[in-house]
Amino acid sequence: MKSIKVEWALLWCHVSVLCSAQHSALSETRQVKGIVGTDLSFPESVLKSGSLLYGDLGNIAQVYPVKQSNTNLVKRFKYRLHWNNVTGFFTLLDLQIDDSGVYTVENTDEDEEKTTQTFQLTVYYVLSKPQVTVHDNISCTVVCSVENGREVTLSWYKGGEILNQTSSPDLNITLSLPLKVDEQNRDSYRCEAANPVSKESADVPNSCIESDPSKVTGKNMYSINVTLQISRQYQLLYETISMVELIL
Ligand SMILES: *[C@@H]1O[C@H](CO)[C@@H](O)[C@H](O)[C@H]1NC(C)=O
Ligand SMILES: *[C@@H]1O[C@H](CO)[C@@H](O)[C@H](O)[C@H]1NC(C)=O
Ligand SMILES: *[C@@H]1O[C@H](CO)[C@@H](O)[C@H](O)[C@H]1NC(C)=O
Ligand SMILES: *[C@@H]1O[C@H](CO)[C@@H](O)[C@H](O)[C@H]1NC(C)=O
Ligand SMILES: *[C@@H]1O[C@H](CO)[C@@H](O)[C@H](O)[C@H]1NC(C)=O
Repeated sequence: MKSIKVEWALLWCHVSVLCSAQHSALSETRQVKGIVGTDLSFPESVLKSGSLLYGDLGNIAQVYPVKQSNTNLVKRFKYRLHWNNVTGFFTLLDLQIDDSGVYTVENTDEDEEKTTQTFQLTVYYVLSKPQVTVHDNISCTVVCSVENGREVTLSWYKGGEILNQTSSPDLNITLSLPLKVDEQNRDSYRCEAANPVSKESADVPNSCIESDPSKVTGKNMYSINVTLQISRQYQLLYETISMVELIL
């Protein structure tokens, strides 16, 4: 009898340890990333009753027993929230950049126990292609630029090697990063803009090779040639004058 009691106590202990372990795992905030204009489901099931809460707004959607829901509780999310009566997931439609924040799914399926799962949602724009413009034709300096945004980095690569990188906490600006290009290896350069949901890259434009230094050198040689020819003509003129003087 005594040993049975001890066993029960041990078992109970095991169960509560397991439960509390599960509880702490459940209450951990999950990071989720979203893309502006797409839909996002919070992967936590509410099948009978529960709610979805957002930041300071509190309840934004409610599930009532007998598979009924109200997902238009708050004007801001009106017609943008959906609850699936089969999976039990809440879905936020047509994500906006300021939908970022903390969402909590409260599950009261079991009348006694309430479980919660918190999601930290961050919404990003899909990046546009960076622009590479020729800044200085002669030294072959190009500038790569892209609109800044949440966690955007702009980098120059040569082959697989990263040459330089920039980012800024000021989201209002255009990020730009200059680079002096070795025109012999123009094709090996790549400018890449990246954020957690997208990546876009651009190559060095041809305008740089048009100002190829060999052509610039050619131009210089031409002007030297012209100068030489002009001075030769002067020399001829001078010689003619001298001859005229001699004749006189
Ligand atoms: C579940 O949702 C679908 C479509 O939203 C609806 O047609 C169906 O009747 C719902 N099921 C129940 C049990 O309410
Ligand atoms: C580069 O050269 C082109 C043509 O040679 C010229 O139109 C353009 O203005 C130049 N750009 C710069 C930044 O000097
Ligand atoms: C990287 O870019 C910054 C900003 O233009 C510049 O000051 C720095 O010298 C560059 N670093 C390298 C290694 O090119
Ligand atoms: C960002 O831009 C908006 C309008 O475009 C402006 O109202 C705001 O002051 C700017 N913020 C910063 C930090 O420059
Ligand atoms: C220099 O001028 C001469 C005579 O006009 C010409 O034959 C030669 O090709 C020129 N050289 C260059 C580099 O332009």
